[in-house]
Amino acid sequence: MSTPSDFVTICPEILYFGTPVAVVSSLNPGGSTNLAAVSSFWALGERLVLGLTVFGQTAANLRRHPGCVLNLPSPRQWLEVERLGHTTGCAELTEYHRAAGITYAQDKFTVSGFTALPAECVKPDRVAECPVQIEAQVSAVHPATEAAPFIYVETRKLRVHAQRGVLDAHATRIDIEAWSPLFYVFRHYYGKGAHLGASFRARGEPR
Ligand SMILES: Cc1cc2nc3c(=O)[nH]c(=O)nc-3n(C[C@H](O)[C@H](O)[C@H](O)COP(=O)(O)O)c2cc1C
Repeated sequence: MSTPSDFVTICPEILYFGTPVAVVSSLNPGGSTNLAAVSSFWALGERLVLGLTVFGQTAANLRRHPGCVLNLPSPRQWLEVERLGHTTGCAELTEYHRAAGITYAQDKFTVSGFTALPAECVKPDRVAECPVQIEAQVSAVHPATEAAPFIYVETRKLRVHAQRGVLDAHATRIDIEAWSPLFYVFRHYYGKGAHLGASFRARGEPR
């Protein structure tokens, strides 16, 4: 049992306690696909919400064109994801990019080592190596404020593709033993740990 003296007030520089990573495909003005690593995303029902810096090409692309793909990498792909993190599709670099050591890359597939796979419902390509790819459409963009240079992009799922290797024997549901997200924890990469237990809603719940 913890007591108040077990806790210390801290001022962490970042609050990234841990979320899965997605690689977002969005459409560049010339029709090519931009890829970007994001960890600020979550799902509620059929909606997926992304938190994006306003300085990025992904934010500009999603404001202009609604089609996108959320590609979910496995822990094996952390180096490809990390390579994406060093680059932006914005040809004009801002102070934000310079301060973070981010450089311009026109072709994110070449930079990362990922392979393009055509999507079925949207224009940007999928990422072939990612075991799960969610084609989606932007339904709302919540604008940045003076205090926070981020936009919150609400998307609606259109189609989900899953590699056979992460599916159950019927190839209809995600096999939770075979599947692991890639987690981003205080800017470090992790896979999933041991199974701890099931929630009371787990039985019969769709996956
Ligand atoms: C693992 C990881 C997670 C990231 N999460 C986010 C995020 O949630 N939102 C965001 O705006 N940038 C995030 N970034 C930074 C972007 O990937 C980076 O700014 C990149 O330059 C954006 O590319 P773009 O300008 O082509 O969109 C993340 C980077 C990494 C490596």
